[in-house]
Amino acid sequence: MPSAPPSHTLNTGAKIPTVGLGTWQATEPDAIYNAILTALKAGYRHIDTAFAYGNEVEVGRAIRDGLAQLELKREDIFVTTKLAPIQARPATVPQAFEKSLSDLGLDYVDLYLLHWPVALNPEPGVLIPLRADGSRDIDDQVAGFEVTWEAMEKLAATGKTKAIGVCNFAIPNLERLLTAAKIPPAVNQIELHPYLPQYKLLEYCASKGIHVTAYSPLGSSGSPLLQDPTLTKIAEAHGVSTAQILISWGALRGTVIPKSVTPSRVISNFQLVDLTEAQVQAINDISKTNSKRFIRPVWGVPVFDEDFE
Ligand SMILES: NC(=O)c1ccc[n+]([C@@H]2O[C@H](COP(=O)([O-])OP(=O)(O)OC[C@H]3O[C@@H](n4cnc5c(N)ncnc54)[C@H](OP(=O)(O)O)[C@@H]3O)[C@@H](O)[C@H]2O)c1
Repeated sequence: MPSAPPSHTLNTGAKIPTVGLGTWQATEPDAIYNAILTALKAGYRHIDTAFAYGNEVEVGRAIRDGLAQLELKREDIFVTTKLAPIQARPATVPQAFEKSLSDLGLDYVDLYLLHWPVALNPEPGVLIPLRADGSRDIDDQVAGFEVTWEAMEKLAATGKTKAIGVCNFAIPNLERLLTAAKIPPAVNQIELHPYLPQYKLLEYCASKGIHVTAYSPLGSSGSPLLQDPTLTKIAEAHGVSTAQILISWGALRGTVIPKSVTPSRVISNFQLVDLTEAQVQAINDISKTNSKRFIRPVWGVPVFDEDFE
């Protein structure tokens, strides 16, 4: 099997490093700060955060300190952040973006993503506002994600984000978006791992020049993938962790952003192995018997493939 490339080229011409550090559920300030410094020292050049993760201040501080300590330039590193559903009203998109930039302490980001194809009624201090019946408080003022996207296109024109993209877009929503968009998304960030290999969506995105980034590549917290017998056997054969096998497999298909705040894992997760063709095939076959989506919030509007069936 060919080795995973160190980076991929986006439809903007920019390069996105293949392995990045995820930061969701990394809210303890010292832990996230140390994880990012460890990552940069280990060779990571791509950090993924979001307004919704509540850690942009720490993430930004660690990136700026890391760049200074390693004598790197800003352009040596790829930084992604995301617009949350409560920020999706077109009129508030510019201020939401400026808040992320200012919290990160950066002049620009490399990629700004629409976090979900959903807008929620903003409520001060609440990330996921709910209605009285417990359902998510969809913002009916927003005519559709197309209008939020249009506001994001205007941000792209300022150069303060080098690219714009989406997360959690299934094919029907991408088709809708592409019909309206002046700028096609550079990236679709989706859950992707051997229990959810996303063959159709990968093929569709490739046909439209949309790069795919795999989130939750290890299956997120408490993942059964780490105990999967096919994967643990391949890990033993290489003398590496099961996580490294998952990341190496993911890196053959696109960008992968494993999260860890454990320094030893941050370091080992960046060390990819070359899988044999037979090993790749065995991993591809896992979803024939084990299939699972780990991240599945109930939004009340169609988001995931299953919602359109
Ligand atoms: N766009 C979206 O909607 C979206 C959704 C989900 C995630 N994401 C992004 O994708 C990133 C990754 O996804 P994720 O955080 O859900 O899950 P993940 O990266 O699949 O898994 C993270 C979990 O695995 C553990 N872990 C990491 N390395 C390990 C290793 N070598 N051995 C054993 N356990 C290990 C981590 O624990 P420790 O930290 O304690 O080491 C953490 O509990 C996120 O952080 C975020 O940046 C985006």
